[in-house]
Order: sequence, then C-alpha cells, then structure tokens
Amino acid sequence: MIQLIKGFKDIMPGEVELWQSIETIARRNFEVFGFSEIRPPMMEKTDLFKRSIGEATDIVEKEMYTMEQSKGKMITLRPEATASVVRAYIQHKLYAQDPVRKLYTIGPMFRRERPQKGRFRQFYQINAEVFGVESPYIDAQIILLAMTIFKDLKVKDVSPHINSLGCQTCRPKFKQALVDFLDERLDKLCDDCKRRKDRNPLRVLDCKKTTCIEALVNAPAITDYLCEECTKHFTAVKKALDSQGVDYVIAKRLVRGLDYYARTTFEIQTSSLGAQNSVAGGGRYDGLVKLLGGPEIPGIGFAIGFDRLVEICSMDAKSMEQKPDVFIAPMGEKAAEFAFEWGSGLSLKGIRTEIELSGKSLKSMMKRANRLNSKYVLMVGENELEQGNLVLRNMETKQQADIPVDNVVESIKSLLT
Ligand code: HAM
Repeated sequence: MIQLIKGFKDIMPGEVELWQSIETIARRNFEVFGFSEIRPPMMEKTDLFKRSIGEATDIVEKEMYTMEQSKGKMITLRPEATASVVRAYIQHKLYAQDPVRKLYTIGPMFRRERPQKGRFRQFYQINAEVFGVESPYIDAQIILLAMTIFKDLKVKDVSPHINSLGCQTCRPKFKQALVDFLDERLDKLCDDCKRRKDRNPLRVLDCKKTTCIEALVNAPAITDYLCEECTKHFTAVKKALDSQGVDYVIAKRLVRGLDYYARTTFEIQTSSLGAQNSVAGGGRYDGLVKLLGGPEIPGIGFAIGFDRLVEICSMDAKSMEQKPDVFIAPMGEKAAEFAFEWGSGLSLKGIRTEIELSGKSLKSMMKRANRLNSKYVLMVGENELEQGNLVLRNMETKQQADIPVDNVVESIKSLLT
C-alpha cells in the first residue's frame, strides 16, 4: 500500500471541522481589522525566496523544494507567504492609488525540515501583511490582531515575545560587536555557526544547539545598540501594546529565521507545545518592497502556524463533525428509486441528507443511521408506499411523524426548519 510521505498529513473529517471554524474566526477578524484576501500561487521563481528570505538562512540553504522548470530556470514551492504577497503587491501596483494595503492569505507552505511533533514539511499558515504604514501603532495593532484571533479561539497560554532588530544605521554596529564576541568563542560554536558567523552572524543567535546557546549567554543584545529612531519606535510599540492591555515579553535574543526583518520582530509563544513553541512569528520588513523592485514602502506582518494552533485549540472538533439531518432508509428496488429522488430533492433544498443504498435489512440501516448520528430517519417500505404515508423518526426523542408520499420534500423541509 502506498502511504503518505513523511512530514505530510491528511486532515481528516472529524478534524477538518476545527480547521474550518478557525479559518472562519480568522477571516472575521481580518475583515473587521480592514484586511482583504489575496491568494498567490504555491510556486514562485526560486530567486524570489533567495532574495527576500536571504541566501544564508536555513530555509534557503537547506529547506526549499526546488525544481528545474526549464533549462536553468528554477522554481520553488513556497516556504512562506510574505515574499509572494510582496511580489504580488509590486507586480499589480497595488500601491498606485493608495500605498496602504492590508492583505491576508491562508494556505499551505513547504519546508524540507526534519519532521517532528508540530513540525511538518507541508504546513499551513494564516498570514497577514500590511503595507505603507510606518507608524508604530500598526506594529502594536498587528500583534493585537494575532492575539485577538487566539483569544476568540479560547487559546490560553500564549504570549508575544518582542524585540527590535534595528535598521540599516544601527544594525551594522551590533553585527560587529556580535562578530567580535563570537571570534573569542569560536571553539565553542558548532560548525554551522562557525560558518554563519561570517555569512550572517545574527543567525548564530538563533542556533538551537545547547553548546551554542551556552556560549552565547553573555552575547551583546541588539536593544543596547539601537539608534535613536529605532529606540523611539520600539518604545512607542511597547506603549501602544500597554494601552491595549497586551502582555508581552521583551526577548533580546529573538532574531527570527528570515533576513528581511527590520525593527519590530515578534513571536507568539506557548508552553503547551514542547520544542516547537512558536505559534506565530512576524515583524517589520521595511526594505523588502524596495529590495524586490518596488517603491520604498514599509511593510509588517505575521504568520500563525495553523497546524500548531489546531494542537492548542481547546475546541472539540469531533462534536463539530457534520451529521445528516435526514437518513433515508429504503427497503426494496421501488423504494430506492423514490429515496434517490427525495434525497436529492432534500439536498437541493439545503437539508443534509444521506441516502442509504446498500439494499441491506432495516436493522442494519438503522445501525448505520445511529453511527452517523442522524437527526431523523425516513423509512421507505413497500407497504408505506402503497398506503401513501411514510414514517419519519426523530432519533433523539424517538417520536415518529407521518409524511405523505405525494409531498415528501416539502413536508420534511417544513418540519425541520
Ligand atoms: P516563520 O516564523 O518562519 O515566519 O513561520 C511562522 C509560523 O509558522 C511559525 O511560528 C510556526 O508556527 C509555523 N511554522 C513554521 N514552520 C513550520 C513547520 N515546519 N511546521 C509547522 N509549522 C511551522 C514566516 O513564515 C514569516 N513569513 C511570517 C511573517 C509574515 N513575517 C512577516 N509577515
């Protein structure tokens, strides 16, 4: 038997209802916060991700599903959505009338990471991006929006960890201080970090190896190197979050795994997920629109890890699974013909109907109706057809109603609605 690929999963009936409810709640929040939906494709030119996420990141170095489209033309399954949304924003000149655009997208992403609990190779994100707003209020609002989605889903135990990564003016000084610090401890770093130190030193702060974490205990913190403008911005973000009653943690080591960030960055973390404790990540990417060929327009956004959100969401998916309103149990050839006609008629009227076409005994049909948790069963026997009246049984109260054969669909509809 051919099995599912490792790191991929089926979202089955009984689970998918929870995904749908979460999506509905996320969409409702996006609407009230002024967002419109965008659906970019799942494949993009590889260069888009190399340029935006950064060549010296784990995602680009080791995790992308890339293939050759035609000679020398490489394409990649998207490992994240921001790059695509920015590309679309530029390509369709969404900034032409008004640079301020708020866009959201929900869908699958692909990263060839080592699969483990909470980490998949195809995973889903609920992604928000805002263009054209420099004000620190939008940083706070974006975090508030993500937290509101969690709150509406009754997810407790999540808190935003925030940091500022500075800008082109102040980050180089911090980078130099970090490199100097790392140079003194090279022997304690893993081979990857030795390499990262020269190519992209900030990535060393993101290393999960215990030896590196220990070696970095006293590493310089970026917040000590912020320029006046960045300090002002970060202070204003914190103040705006305070004013909204959002509790946050200052995370001086938070650098995120993608290169496009500047100033505010954040992760929403939970202690209920073990090692994969980040349920959302985001931040400002002020230089990215320009870097990808657009005008100088700032941007900020976040992505919630949908799969991880499902794990910590306390809503009960099983109880949400759809059950038939009416289960039609025909006995005999003639009855099956009517069952087909009435069943389709009921479905067309918006009543969830299951027509049992197995030709089995009434007893086994009733067993199946019970298993499916049907609200009503319509019994269609040869005798009832002849007499002109069918029996509709309420499976909860066990009460039975007569349904005239010449008006089945309308009678059931008026009884149910
Ligand atoms: P990210 O931190 O790479 O950021 O991913 C965001 C979230 O996606 C993570 O916090 C996590 O919940 C989930 N996630 C990431 N990788 C996996 C995986 N392999 N399996 C399951 N869940 C995963 C971004 O992708 C940025 N584009 C976020 C952003 C939007 N920044 C600005 N705008």
